Amino acid sequence: MAHSAPIGVFDSGVGGLTVVRAIRAALPEESIIYLGDTARVPYGNRGEATVRRYSLNATQLLIDRGVKAIVVACNTATAYALPALQRRWSVPVLGVVAPVAAAAAERSQTGHIGVIGTRGTISSGCYPEALGALNPALRSVQIACPLFVPLAEEGWLDGAIPEQVAQVYLEPLVKTQVDTLILGCTHYPLLRPAIAHVLDRMMPRKVALLDSAQATTSALVALLDREGLRAPSGSSGVLTTLVTDDPKGFAPLSSRFAGEYIGQAEHVDIHDKEWSDELL
Ligand code: DGL
Repeated sequence: MAHSAPIGVFDSGVGGLTVVRAIRAALPEESIIYLGDTARVPYGNRGEATVRRYSLNATQLLIDRGVKAIVVACNTATAYALPALQRRWSVPVLGVVAPVAAAAAERSQTGHIGVIGTRGTISSGCYPEALGALNPALRSVQIACPLFVPLAEEGWLDGAIPEQVAQVYLEPLVKTQVDTLILGCTHYPLLRPAIAHVLDRMMPRKVALLDSAQATTSALVALLDREGLRAPSGSSGVLTTLVTDDPKGFAPLSSRFAGEYIGQAEHVDIHDKEWSDELL
């Protein structure tokens, strides 16, 4: 039965587990298959067609495992591949950008919203576009922060180095009226304390930090309800983690990102398929 099938969640690496954590808290009865495409991380510095191909290949694996819905828990993949994934698969595919943009639009008092993300997410312009569609009066300031992903993947989350990196990246916000900052990459919540500390020091006003997890989880709950796909009540959800590179490197960090103990992930190979030009 479709409603007892698992939900597929995918990211380039461990970052999407920050979204899984929120989903598990809100929907403990749902089983989740998490796929971290660790053999190809980072997606954030790659071109649009490459990210689209990787995303199609990764989600094919989730489809083959019988998922009832897919959450693209990666801003870069959402920015470049969401429409192609929604066209390709018959199960619902949810991205992270629209839910967070809506939450930020609702939260901001000044109407000035900061967005930080990978090079791909920022250069795609997906957040200014989503915010503009919600309310053309909203202003956004975007900053690519490519060093944040390797810092998070290394578990180098606090102290002088991440704070110095954050200080340099976030400096352009000082002269703006930004009161809300979208952490537009699922790796960034791990650096939240360092980012918040730097902003508290340098911004004249308090800046609210919004990440992909909460807003995407609320959108997922609404989607499952709308489609009649909620797992039967009383079931107990199981989390399965799959990675495309050696799982050994994944184990210690994954528990930190997910907020629960995750044993050794299962290694899977993703096959590069021929996708039609219309999808790429
Ligand atoms: N976690 C991914 C995102 O939300 C990016 C990490 C990467 O560069 O692969 O964009």
